[in-house]
Amino acid sequence: MSGTSIVGWGMSLPDKVVTNFDLEKVLDTNNDWIIERTGIRQRHLGGSTESLATTAVSEALKVADLDLDSYGGLILATTTPDKTTPGTSALIHKNLGISGFAFDINAACAGFIYSFVVGHQLVKSMNKPIVIVGSDTLSRITDMTDRSTAILLADGAGSLIISPSDADDCLLGFDLQVDGNLEEILYCDLGGYLKMNGKEVFKRAVRAAEKSTTKVIEESGYTMADIKLLVPHQANQRIMDTLCDRLKIPYERCASVIEETGNTSSASIPLALVDAIKKNRLKAGDLVLMTGFGAGMTWGSALLKWG
Ligand code: UT7
Repeated sequence: MSGTSIVGWGMSLPDKVVTNFDLEKVLDTNNDWIIERTGIRQRHLGGSTESLATTAVSEALKVADLDLDSYGGLILATTTPDKTTPGTSALIHKNLGISGFAFDINAACAGFIYSFVVGHQLVKSMNKPIVIVGSDTLSRITDMTDRSTAILLADGAGSLIISPSDADDCLLGFDLQVDGNLEEILYCDLGGYLKMNGKEVFKRAVRAAEKSTTKVIEESGYTMADIKLLVPHQANQRIMDTLCDRLKIPYERCASVIEETGNTSSASIPLALVDAIKKNRLKAGDLVLMTGFGAGMTWGSALLKWG
């Protein structure tokens, strides 16, 4: 088996739903402003990074239906580990009973892309399936009295399983980038709350995602017209719409769950992708373009072939 395929997928959201109307009661904000400026109507809050990830991966393991002893390992993308050490990935790994390694990757909202690319290389070199999971509990690092972040940030998890297969590789191209000089536009000190210069992040996110996706498409020999589904980090509906406009990708080809989930950082891309998979939006051979950006500033894109 010289190729790779995505053979499992799963997701998890906490039960507690907080609507914009709930936030109106405790913050100087309102439903109309939040919808118009972000596209968010509600978000799910609660749970731990470990518990959300365990539920999402359990679902993915059932879909993949592989021997638990056959796994090469698990990579957790998270900005909000439950402990300083051990890595939260070790606890998720224990809950699932799979074989192999486990480690955390913190690349903020680009973390799922980073993890997918690293995981894909490990599937190739180990010739074993690897679990990738993005899980975040941003509500634990959100100042609920700060309207600029409290309306956006939320909790959730999403997972994919990549396995060796007889098909072609499922990863056709990627771009991973970081610029640590931009630390101050989005950061969270140890034990503190997330601080964000929203306007600056917005501007840079659009530029980075446009450049990164264009690079991946050009290098892989495809065009944007070939993309069946764009799966951007779910940070703000206006960022996704602007990106579609710039890339000339019709809005209906963009996966979006932000209205229901808010911004879940490392979980946002897999949540949007798994939602599209469950709605049967993908068929064998379709090209999927994922792109993410976040604190660091990190950003990255990955081009996938489905099926
Ligand atoms: O996942 C990591 C990446 N993060 C992102 O990508 C976030 C990117 N940034 C954003 O999504 C947007 O910048 C925000 C949603 C954070 C803010 O939207 P904006 O359109 O940039 O609003 P703004 O900060 O320019 O504020 C516009 C107005 C201001 O009032 P004045 O000065 O025009 O009177 C703000 O005081 O809206 C006011 N405002 C609010 N009003 C009601 C700011 N926040 C709120 C709020 N509710 N929550």
